[in-house]
Amino acid sequence: MRLWRRSCSKVLCAVLALVAANILLVVFYTKGTIKSLVVGSLHKEGAAVAQRPLHLKKDGAQADGARLAPKKFFLQWGKGPSRARQKEAHYLFLKFGYNAFLSNQLPFNRSIPDTRHARCLQKTYPAQLPSLSVILIFLNEALSVIQRAITSIINQTPPRLLKEIILVDDFSSHGELKRRLDEAIMLYNQSYPVLLKLIRHTKRRGLAQARNTGLEAATADVVAILDAHIEVNVGWAEPILSRIREDPTVVLSPVFDNIDFNTFELEKVELAVDGFDWQLWCRYDHVPQAWRQLDDVTAPMTSPSIMGILAANRIFLTEIGALDGGMLVYGGENVELSLRVWQCGGKIEILPCSRIAHLGRYYKPYAMNLDIPLRRNALRVAETWMDKHKYMVYLAWNIPLQNSGIDYGDISSRKALREKLKCKSFDWYLKNIYPLLKPIPNIICYGRMKNSLDESVCLDRGPVPGNSPKMKPCRELSEQNVYYLLSGEFYVGELIAREDVNEQYCLTDSGRGEKPTLELCSEAAKRGAYIYWDFQQGKSIKNKDTARCLEIKRDPSGTYRLVLENCTQQTWKIQHIGRNWGYS
Ligand SMILES: *[C@@H]1O[C@H](CO)[C@@H](O)[C@H](O)[C@H]1NC(C)=O
Ligand SMILES: *[C@@H]1O[C@H](CO)[C@@H](O)[C@H](O)[C@H]1NC(C)=O
Ligand SMILES: *[C@@H]1O[C@H](CO)[C@@H](O)[C@H](O)[C@H]1NC(C)=O
Repeated sequence: MRLWRRSCSKVLCAVLALVAANILLVVFYTKGTIKSLVVGSLHKEGAAVAQRPLHLKKDGAQADGARLAPKKFFLQWGKGPSRARQKEAHYLFLKFGYNAFLSNQLPFNRSIPDTRHARCLQKTYPAQLPSLSVILIFLNEALSVIQRAITSIINQTPPRLLKEIILVDDFSSHGELKRRLDEAIMLYNQSYPVLLKLIRHTKRRGLAQARNTGLEAATADVVAILDAHIEVNVGWAEPILSRIREDPTVVLSPVFDNIDFNTFELEKVELAVDGFDWQLWCRYDHVPQAWRQLDDVTAPMTSPSIMGILAANRIFLTEIGALDGGMLVYGGENVELSLRVWQCGGKIEILPCSRIAHLGRYYKPYAMNLDIPLRRNALRVAETWMDKHKYMVYLAWNIPLQNSGIDYGDISSRKALREKLKCKSFDWYLKNIYPLLKPIPNIICYGRMKNSLDESVCLDRGPVPGNSPKMKPCRELSEQNVYYLLSGEFYVGELIAREDVNEQYCLTDSGRGEKPTLELCSEAAKRGAYIYWDFQQGKSIKNKDTARCLEIKRDPSGTYRLVLENCTQQTWKIQHIGRNWGYS
């Protein structure tokens, strides 16, 4: 599992990425991206196949990436374009977080490889299918990228099924999205009268409200709510329309392939289902066993969640409450919709024969701490939908359960909706739909951990990969989250809490040497390693088996080193105290 994660460090949190309230925003890559990126030629045939990384990082390369990236990525242009054009390319890269210079050269109607399984090509669909409204929402997207999305939709959707394409601009500031976009739409209108509609927000309203604006304007039987940085692939619409015709209560996601942000080449990505972690951040999960057993690669695949992009019966989606307009900026709205769909009588499926190419940005063109809206939106979901398990979201984000100081807005109308639709509990959802997500009720305290010798440094997970915990300047990072369990383990680092993956690291006394280590908890437990500790607030951390204490030592350089030694009088404090939450 870990190997798989490492070899797939080129990560994209697909579709969640789009509209941000104040800022242009996007898709995030792991820090490993720069190193692992293999820059291909611009004209390579066919699509490479990539395994889909399961775990998606939200805090990827940021501002420093902006400085590094263009030099690195445009290197292979060598003696190609003149210096002036290279400068322009750099400028556009910085502005958009992808190679907009190249996008501007590529034809809008370029063809991309068909990434469907051969068996999809043999599928036939009913002649009578519902009509389709496609909604493209955007914020400061490159015009050529939007036009390529529109062109692909027009070319790849049977005209008799495509009723309209609705563009929703969430108050972009870029000049090219004003008159030039209007002119482009007028041109389309000559060949495809009344197909395109453009709605402009007059202030920034965020991803969820932009999607709702499009939904409210739509008139067809089915809506496909997409990002504008996509190209739909051949035959994408028929599986969606056919499935919704069979069952109007199903919310669907196509499969995303990746458009490389530099080369704009298509990379086919393996099938996976859309899940999320306890921060309610998206991740991919392995395809379900039940689906494999069907032995039909074209069959719809049940999924706990969607990533963002979706297709649904318009009336069904509206009646179950569209998207939660109380979500700010971006993030969490996909999980809110997913829980609501499942808990209130619908279902979510991924359609392997419906494929969309999604352009992943390399970095966010404007620095911004995304955690603020993500955290707030996550609490909104937790408080509305997650009942007694909501504490897990607080734990994962390291937020106090009482007086969090975070205003997640008014949820009374969402709760009323839940009442009205007579929705099932989150416990039902966990047991029946997403058993991989595992609550841990016996965490008794959590947060950053400080030693009384110096309260400016905190216990930290240390470098990844690696298993050496460190003392580092205290920061609000999940690397410094610590969870102490009633049974005596200390989890260090991000709270994983999943049934299937063994990625939770436990503070360990190997019994040898003075260095504490982090070991995968379940493996350490099997090996009989010493992972159980006595701890109380303001007391020592003492291993139950070796009786050694976790302490810190100051090096001549002034930094602190973690050691295991005979207990002196060192004491520790953890941020938040509680006991058996959710079950008391
Ligand atoms: C794109 O459009 C041009 C001009 O109409 C046409 O000549 C070309 O064949 C088209 N390319 C594809 C891949 O459809
Ligand atoms: C599109 O063209 C029709 C006439 O064919 C016109 O009535 C309509 O206003 C045009 N729409 C836009 C957005 O230009
Ligand atoms: C730690 O304590 C044990 C038992 O009390 C003693 O044998 C050992 O020498 C001590 N180690 C150090 C480094 O002081």
